[in-house]
This record gives sequence, C-alpha cells and structure tokens, in this order.
Amino acid sequence: MAAPMRSAVTKVGAEMAAFGKQHLGRGIARATELVWDNGKGSWLYTVEGQKYLDFTCGIGVTNLGHCHPKVVKAAQRQCDRIIHAQINAGYQKPQLELVQKLLPVMPHESLDTFLWFNSGSEASENAVKLARHATKKQNVIVMQGAFHGRTFGAMSMTRSKTIYSAGFGPLMSGVYVTPFPYTYHYLRETGGDKATAEDRCADHAIRELKLLLKQQTPASDTAAIIIEPVLGEGGYVPAPQRYMEQLRKLCDENNILLIIDEVQSGFGRTGTYFAIEQYGVRPDILVMAKGIANGFPLSGLASRKELMDKQAPGSMGGTYSGNAVACAAGVACADVMHEEKILENVAARGAQLRAGLESLRTSPTLAPLIGDIRGRGLMVGLEFSPEAPAGISARVQKACLDRGLLVLTTSVFETLRFIPPLTVSKEEMEKGLEIFGEAVREAVEA
Ligand SMILES: Cc1ncc(COP(=O)(O)O)c(C=O)c1O
Repeated sequence: MAAPMRSAVTKVGAEMAAFGKQHLGRGIARATELVWDNGKGSWLYTVEGQKYLDFTCGIGVTNLGHCHPKVVKAAQRQCDRIIHAQINAGYQKPQLELVQKLLPVMPHESLDTFLWFNSGSEASENAVKLARHATKKQNVIVMQGAFHGRTFGAMSMTRSKTIYSAGFGPLMSGVYVTPFPYTYHYLRETGGDKATAEDRCADHAIRELKLLLKQQTPASDTAAIIIEPVLGEGGYVPAPQRYMEQLRKLCDENNILLIIDEVQSGFGRTGTYFAIEQYGVRPDILVMAKGIANGFPLSGLASRKELMDKQAPGSMGGTYSGNAVACAAGVACADVMHEEKILENVAARGAQLRAGLESLRTSPTLAPLIGDIRGRGLMVGLEFSPEAPAGISARVQKACLDRGLLVLTTSVFETLRFIPPLTVSKEEMEKGLEIFGEAVREAVEA
C-alpha cells in the first residue's frame, strides 16, 4: 500500500506559503504550496516533517541526492578557505581541479578548454557568443520544442512553450527554428512501419533543416545549430541516432558549429556521463550545468582551444563565474560519480523504471491511454495518447503529490517526466512506481 493521502499543508506551512504568495513574484510557477525544510538522498521534508519521495531532483540538479555528504563536506571545507575567489583576480584551485576531473569524461578529446558561468541560460547564451565570434556569422538554428533558458538570448532560443516569451519581445534576432525529430508524433501522423519510423522521422527532419538553410538562413550566415540530444522541456524525447549523425555531417559540410546542450541530460542522467556519447557524435561546443555541482549554481562550456582562444580577454565572464564553493562541490560530484559507481545504478534503476511504466500497459483500461514511454537512463518520459482525457498529466501529478511522490510534467503534450536521483535505491523506485500506478488509475477513473 502506498503512502496515505495527505492534506497539502498544515497551519505553519500554510502561513509561510501565504507569506510567500504575498511577497514573491507571480512569474514563478510552483508545483505545490509546500514549504521545504530539508532534504536527504531521495527524500524532501516539509517544515512540518512531511516526507516526499523526490523524482524531480530540482529538474535534474540534485542528481546525487539531496545533501550528498561528500558534496556537503567539500563545500563546507571550501567555505572555510575562500568563497569568492573572483575569476578576474587570477586562478583558484577548485576551478582548476574541476577542469582536471572533467577533461577525462568529455565526450570528445577536442573539448579541452572551459568557461564557467552560473546558470544554464547564461551558458547557452555564451555558447552562441562563442559560435558567432568564432565563425563571424550571426544566425543560430534551434529545435522546435527546445529549452535553453529564460534570459533574453536563451529565451529567444527556447521554443518549448509560448509562455516563456509571451509579452517579453522583441526577442534576439537571428534565431531560426527547425523541427525536432519527434518519432512518436511522426508515426502517429504518417503511419507506416513502426520499426523504421525513427529513421524516417530523422530523414524528414533533416530534409526540413536543409530546406531552412535554402529558404531562410543560408549556411554562410549560420553560425551554429543548438540541440538537446534528449529534448527536455520539449517532452523528454531522445533524438534518433540517424538524425544526430546527419546533423554532424551537415554541420561539417556547411562550416556550422554544433552546440550540444546537456544542461539537463548531462552528468550521468542518461546512463553515460553525457548523452551525446551514446551517439558517437562530436560536439563543437558542449553546454553543461545542473548536475555538475548537485545544487550549487554552476554552469559551463567546453570547446576547442582554437575557438576559445579567438576571444579577447574580458569579452566573457561574470562576477560569480566559476564560484570556488560551487567548483569544490563539482569536484566532489565527479569523485562520487566514480567512487559510488553511479552509472551502474542508473542502468539498473533505469531498466526498473522503464519496466514498471511498461507494466501499466497490461491493464486493458490504461493500455490505449499510454502513448509513449521513452528516454535514456533515468531521464524518462511517459506521454499519454490523444485518447486520454485532457489535463490527465496534471491530474496524475496531483494524485502523486497526495501520496507523497513528486513528479513533473513537461512539454505542451500530456507528458510526465521522471528525474529521480541517480542514487535512487531499488526500494525507492518500487515505491515511486507503486504510487505512480495508483495515481494514474485514480486520474483515469476520476
Ligand atoms: C536543456 C536546458 N538548457 C538550459 C536550461 C536553462 O538553465 P537555467 O534554468 O539554469 O538557466 C535548462 C533548464 O531547465 C535546460 O533544461
């Protein structure tokens, strides 16, 4: 039996939430009205001690679980030494150590030079600055459904939902949109053989991209194409192998840089250190954040020295870039990834998660409603079919919350995403799946 139903909040929490509602900006979407007090491993606790199984990880940030002891210790130690060793003042040890830790896990040996920032948005914008400057070209092609952040440049490249840019325009110019190869939708629309759908969808998307280069932004004006290898905010959709290979080829043929945004898919989330490794495709620029420091604000770019060194000193950076405490936490994360064999757990728990979700299809009531179960490692999405009632994903999310499980929806389609900690145990995964199954049944019957 799953966790008992719980009332959303009790008095103390309700008063604090009301205060927050009064004094914090409305522009932030909140999945709950709960007030969090602490977190440990896969669990979050409210100010009143109610416990929630966290399958959201701060949207793929606390990959090693909340307050991993080694990460906490490394940050505490660094706080005692120096917190703000500002990057323009010289080098600092944690930053250099982090580079040392990351060099061997880069998806390609050519990615040998780094720049640090604070957020994913900042890193993705700076990837465009790097690409524009290095190629002396202006335009950038983004994927339909992409999410690269909310600051001006990043928002201009975000195409997952109109809410992110509605009313904020005009946006940064020079951004062109090409279809992301979304096999599930392609197959529903075109029909045909399921086995070849992924390849056909990839070919279709490449044809559209070629058309874009002929009709709207010529290669001679196009600096870069930016893609999330597993579309995150757009629905947890892995790009087909064939698409990524053809994309690399097309970039090479046209002197266009390929920017791989692994802000959400990086640091073990998909079963390899970076998702792009699974494709064997070389990024020109890799964008990283989130899991890099398990909750400390840190993001970065990795690219070829030859590209990075074209930049004039002072043209990049930021006051807090590569903060010493965040980098020390990042170093500890890299150690934990290795010492605790995190990727092995991702493989085992990822298989358990997929099998658990697939088992929902054995119910004759649920089977027609479950459209697609997809993803890599512990970055898994479940999209309901168009036959499912409208608003089902939000109802399932709420029913999970009532039972003590936190999950997130994603995209403009009826999709739920699973982002449990990479350290999640077998028992915790079992519990999460049990609650999820109950929640889906409740939402369908309602
Ligand atoms: C793929 C991707 N890129 C960029 C971002 C933006 O990161 P941030 O919210 O830290 O600015 C996100 C955030 O979810 C993301 O998933």
